[in-house]
Amino acid sequence: MLWNSSLETGIKLVDEQHKQLFDTADELLDADGDDKIKKALDFLASYITKHFTDEQKLHASVSYPKAAVHKGYHDEYVKTFKKFQEQYNKEGATLSNKMAANKIVVGWLKDHIMVHDKEFTKYYKEKTAQK
Ligand SMILES: [Fe+2]
Repeated sequence: MLWNSSLETGIKLVDEQHKQLFDTADELLDADGDDKIKKALDFLASYITKHFTDEQKLHASVSYPKAAVHKGYHDEYVKTFKKFQEQYNKEGATLSNKMAANKIVVGWLKDHIMVHDKEFTKYYKEKTAQK
């Protein structure tokens, strides 16, 4: 499993969705046929969008001051992922695409969670504890 407890934010919905993303990234890295790869990429594309929307709703619910900046990271990533997906579908599981999967899906998610999602979580917990 690619997810580990250091990635935990403590917000149940967010953590469950992150785990799902890493599980699918794992499937993508292990996929041995074009059908499986396409399926994993399609799932990731739609689940990423859903996950970002849910996170942004959470940001809005507590008037997160960095919501717009954070949404910018999400929007940028959706574009990056789309390009990666097109390339992967076109070329298949080449070594360079496998390496890109590791960097673009796993690496980006980990960095984003550790820095930006954790920063939000800290704010969210402080804000909801005051209520
Ligand atoms: Fe995020």
